[in-house]
Amino acid sequence: MECSGQLTPRLLVAVGTAVIGSLQFGYNTGVINAPQNIIQGFYNETWSGRFSEPIPQSTLTALWSLSVAIFSVGGMFGSFSVGLFVNRFGRKNSMLMANVLAFIAAAFMGFSKLAASYEMLIIGRFIVGLYSGLSTGFVPIYVEEISPTSIRGALGTLHQLGVVIGILMAQIFGMDLLMGNAALWPFLLAFPVLPALLQCVLLPLCPESPRYLLINCKEESKARSILVMLRGTDEVSEDMQEMKEESQQMMREKKVTIPELFRSPLYRQPIFVAIMMQLSQQLSGINAVFYYSTGIFERAGVTLPVYATIGAGVVNTAFTLVSLFVVERVGRRPLHLTGLMGMAVSAVLLTVAMALLDQLKWMSYVSIGAIFSFVAFFEIGPGPIPWFIVAELFSQGPRPAAIAVAGFSNWSANFLVGMSFPYVEQLCGPYVFIIFTILLLGFFTFTYFKVPETKGRSFDEITAGFRKSGGQGAGKYSAPEEFNSLRGDDPDL
Ligand code: GLC
Repeated sequence: MECSGQLTPRLLVAVGTAVIGSLQFGYNTGVINAPQNIIQGFYNETWSGRFSEPIPQSTLTALWSLSVAIFSVGGMFGSFSVGLFVNRFGRKNSMLMANVLAFIAAAFMGFSKLAASYEMLIIGRFIVGLYSGLSTGFVPIYVEEISPTSIRGALGTLHQLGVVIGILMAQIFGMDLLMGNAALWPFLLAFPVLPALLQCVLLPLCPESPRYLLINCKEESKARSILVMLRGTDEVSEDMQEMKEESQQMMREKKVTIPELFRSPLYRQPIFVAIMMQLSQQLSGINAVFYYSTGIFERAGVTLPVYATIGAGVVNTAFTLVSLFVVERVGRRPLHLTGLMGMAVSAVLLTVAMALLDQLKWMSYVSIGAIFSFVAFFEIGPGPIPWFIVAELFSQGPRPAAIAVAGFSNWSANFLVGMSFPYVEQLCGPYVFIIFTILLLGFFTFTYFKVPETKGRSFDEITAGFRKSGGQGAGKYSAPEEFNSLRGDDPDL
């Protein structure tokens, strides 16, 4: 379905403001990496101050792992709570309220040195994790709901662009000569105050999601005037019609809770696809690179690992931009498949390079190349697409619950990789990435057989595709057999 309207300035400002939340998530993902030794020094000093002896190495390691991983635990709780907010307070106000968490977290982390308390830093990491978990739900919901169908994927990719820019900023600010030093690291961790302030100023100028106003609040005229403003044209009858149909459809369905998503044959298939998409993102091994790249580069014989890590951040950002510009032309499925396969091949290359390093010194260059291409292929598809495709796979009723389940799966897998990678790496040595290769090939096969194309389809058409075998959902962009295979087992469907 072609939608009226294009990329208007109002739409761009609204999306740009929302993705400040994505930037915060990315920043806090990357920020703890570079200044590790410096902050560990502070843990040691604090410990010595309290107990008059240096901190035992095992305690330091445990405290540090906790400081890193508690962020994903916060993310798990935050993402799971998305549904509690978005329907009660609206999309825009939910994003606004979440900033309270960003301020509190920054205060805890920023003042931890002054208060000589690593506990404060750890609590701050948990709270900023909560905030990030909420953002990974709020932002894609808002962006997908205000975007015209024809550019929904491109605008959805802006969430990931915000994430990768946040990671890159953290890598750069975290350099020794900027804020990654003993004097300034509290400012590095408190920096999220600034984007939070900016978002608090800009959000009140942005509109509420017209879909939320019309479908959830029945405020038709308000929804219409916002649509006119966002689309930059009075011709919004097609969008209005589509939303009204969805509204009627929703009235026929009962309220969708999380257990209902798994019970109802109507939702079982799309929620399965949504979860697998999240797992394909995290179990690809991407955060093994983003949490531990400096160590990986060191072991791969790279002389300046910090710069190689920043290089990975630059490649990461550049390829998210590539995806942004091609996603509406090429579609979600081909990009996701290309990304997964490219990552699998890069992981094999990295394994070969690491295994041969002792015999051939120049293999260190091959491993840099392999990691860069691993990251590049990630951003072509598995990075951006899972975050926004869930909002596309569900209509207004089940959307918040589905986003919560998908987000929870994503953050749990993130936690799993973050916690276990160092141990598994000790066990497997240079062959550790073979595990990711096997997983990547599994996700490739799943995507090939089970994930439908959503490009160019209205939410209603996509949902109908799950409801009817090869029906109207299977439009010109995807093979009908995909939707056939997605049909629920219920003969009435
Ligand atoms: C995605 C992932 C996140 C990862 C990032 C890397 O947003 O969800 O965990 O760190 O991509 O660019």
